Amino acid sequence: MKNLTYLNNKFVEHSKAKISVEDRGFLFSDSIYELISVLNGELIDLKPHLNRLKSSLKKIKINYKVNQLKFQNVIKKLIKNNKIFNGYVYIQITRGVAERKHEFPLKYKPSVIIFTKNLNINNNIYKKGIKIITIPDIRWLRRDIKTTSLLANVLSKQMAVEKNAFESWLIDDGYITEGSASNAWIIKNSNTIITHPSNTKILKGVTRDTVIKILKKNNFKIKERAFNLIEAKNAKEAFLTSSTLSVLPVVKIDNYNISNGKPGDITKKIMFLYKNYISKNKNLISKELKIA
Ligand code: PDD
Repeated sequence: MKNLTYLNNKFVEHSKAKISVEDRGFLFSDSIYELISVLNGELIDLKPHLNRLKSSLKKIKINYKVNQLKFQNVIKKLIKNNKIFNGYVYIQITRGVAERKHEFPLKYKPSVIIFTKNLNINNNIYKKGIKIITIPDIRWLRRDIKTTSLLANVLSKQMAVEKNAFESWLIDDGYITEGSASNAWIIKNSNTIITHPSNTKILKGVTRDTVIKILKKNNFKIKERAFNLIEAKNAKEAFLTSSTLSVLPVVKIDNYNISNGKPGDITKKIMFLYKNYISKNKNLISKELKIA
């Protein structure tokens, strides 16, 4: 079976899925996206991802109504056809093809793209933890919108790679906001778990929200507040979250070892609880597909 991609109401062979050079997503990054993880054949947190997709469309005023049932069926078909067991579903909606003028076209037809990828993450990073660097947050002021306007994120991630680190944590006005493609967390010596509050300075991660729910349910002490670099370097433990990486231990921040340079016990417990959450949600696809 060929690898299929959904492009503007049609299923096409992935390598043949093309968009116009005049698409506003290409010309202006006038577009938003979502990435939904598939783990052990199950879609993770489909509903909150589709809700965020709708909210991003609204925030940048793309006039497009997401038909949840239709999206769910398309996603299900792609996962099945493309044999995705561990990987992700990528959705992008742009303001469509139009003459290149900055203002919105009077009439437009949004481009809708959905494709899937298999992804195998090396388990070693979970066992050993990762190193992160910190750099200035040079992004724009609406980081709550999941836009494909990601140049600052791309440059930030590249800086990490060039310094043999896995991720960059971004510093705005003295405080760590989040990673270039993940949310940032620290655990204080008092065992309080801290992550940046959800406002326009960060993307409100779906994994972040799920982890917060799990932590509250299990009576962990959690505070949504900004933390600075000194606090981060003096933290007992640290980790990051994202759809593709789930919960990933951070053991080095700018050459400072965190928790003796090994994944900490609380982080390991959170990883365990998140794994449990995923495995308990067996048949998540079939369950979540019932949402209207
Ligand atoms: N990135 N913050 C930023 C800037 C992100 O790009 C992401 C996700 C997150 C975590 O959000 P979530 O838990 O909903 O995945 C936070 C995705 C994975 C990406 O762009 O590849």
